[in-house]
Amino acid sequence: MRPPPLLLLPLLLQLGGRGLAAPPADSLSQLPAPQNPKIHLHKTKQVLSWEPVSLDNDTRPVVYRVQYKYSTSNDWFNVDISEAHVWVNCTKITSTECNFTPTSLSKGFPPHFNISLRVRAELEGRVSDWVTVPWFQHFRNVTIGPPENIWVTPGDGSLIIRFYPPFDIEASSKATFVYYVRYWEREGIQQVKGPFRSNVIVLKDLKPLRTYCLQVNAQLSVTEPDISRVGHWSSITCHETIVDASTELQQIILIAVGTFLLLSVLAGGCFFLVLKYRSLIKHWFQSPPSIPLQIEEYLKDPAQPILEALEQDSSPKDDAWDSVSIVSFPGKE
Ligand SMILES: *[C@@H]1O[C@H](CO)[C@@H](O)[C@H](O)[C@H]1NC(C)=O
Ligand SMILES: *[C@@H]1O[C@H](CO)[C@@H](O)[C@H](O)[C@H]1NC(C)=O
Ligand SMILES: *[C@@H]1O[C@H](CO)[C@@H](O)[C@H](O)[C@H]1NC(C)=O
Ligand SMILES: *[C@@H]1O[C@H](CO)[C@@H](O)[C@H](O)[C@H]1NC(C)=O
Repeated sequence: MRPPPLLLLPLLLQLGGRGLAAPPADSLSQLPAPQNPKIHLHKTKQVLSWEPVSLDNDTRPVVYRVQYKYSTSNDWFNVDISEAHVWVNCTKITSTECNFTPTSLSKGFPPHFNISLRVRAELEGRVSDWVTVPWFQHFRNVTIGPPENIWVTPGDGSLIIRFYPPFDIEASSKATFVYYVRYWEREGIQQVKGPFRSNVIVLKDLKPLRTYCLQVNAQLSVTEPDISRVGHWSSITCHETIVDASTELQQIILIAVGTFLLLSVLAGGCFFLVLKYRSLIKHWFQSPPSIPLQIEEYLKDPAQPILEALEQDSSPKDDAWDSVSIVSFPGKE
C-alpha cells in the first residue's frame, strides 16, 4: 500500500498554517455558533453541513471556517485550497456545507482515517465557538446501500445475478466487498448463499419453470483497521427459471418412453387376463344363439302365416283401432 500523502500534511501545516487556526483574542462580542453540524457519508460522499447563523441587527454575511483533525494529531487544520490533498476551500465561505467528496481534483479524506471536523461562524474579527461533529472513519460510518444495477438472467434451473458494488473502493485500500444472496421459492423457505467475492453469482440446482424471489446485499470488510459492515438488502425481485432446449427434448423423450412403457404394461396385463380367463370369456361370447320367439313358434307350426302372426303380436292396440276406422269410413258414405 502506498503511503497516503495526507499523513505528512499535519506536519507541514503545523509549521505553516497555525496562525489561521488561532481565533483573534480581541473579539468584540461572540457570534452564535452554527447549529446541527452533520457529516453525510454515503457511497464516496463526504459532506459536512450545518444550519446558517443569522444576526437580527446585522445584514453583513456571516462566513464559516471548517477545520479537520486526525486522531493521530492534536492540532486542527484549515480546510483550504492550498492543501494538496483535500483541494477544497472551506475557509471564509458563505455556504453552509463543505464537500470533501473525492473528485478528479481532490481525493477527499482517506476512508480508513479517523477524522474529526469542526466549524465556526466569523464576521469581521468576531467569531463563534467551534462546534464539532463526532469523529468518523468513512469505512466505519458510511451507509452501505444494496449492490447496484442488479441484473438477473434466468438460466436452465438456475439464475445468474450480476450487479455493481454499492460504491467503488480504491484497490489500494485494504477493503473488499463480499456478497450474499437470499432467495426463496414463493411461500418457500429462505436460503442464504455466500460470501461471494465476484459480482456475478450463479444460483444453481433450482427447479426449472419455477419462480424464485431474491435479494442481494454487500458486506464491507476492512483489514486495517479491522472493520466489518453489513449493507442493506436490495429490494425483492422475482424471476422464473427456464428449461433449455436440450432438457426440454430430454423431458419429451422421457414422457414418450414413459407413456410407451405404461401402455405396454397395460397391454401385457390385458393379454395376461385374457389368457387366464380364456374359458370364462369364451363362455360369455359363445353362448348358444337364441331364435326369436315368433320364428320359433312359426318353425313349430308353419301353417300359421308368419307375417300375420308377427302383426298380431307386435302391433299395439291403438294401431289396430286406427286401421279399423279407416277401413269402415268409406263404407258409411
Ligand atoms: C446586535 O444585537 C446584539 C444583541 O441582540 C448585540 O449584542 C450586538 O452588539 C448587536 N450588533 C450590532 C452590530 O449592532
Ligand atoms: C478516533 O479518534 C477519536 C479522537 O479523535 C477517538 O476518541 C476514537 O476512539 C477514535 N476511533 C477509533 C476507532 O480509533
Ligand atoms: C475560499 O473561498 C472564500 C469565499 O469564496 C474566499 O474569500 C477565499 O479567498 C478562498 N480562499 C482561498 C485560499 O482560495
Ligand atoms: C461513526 O461510528 C462510530 C461507531 O462505529 C460512532 O461512535 C461515531 O459517532 C460515528 N460517527 C458519526 C459522525 O456518525
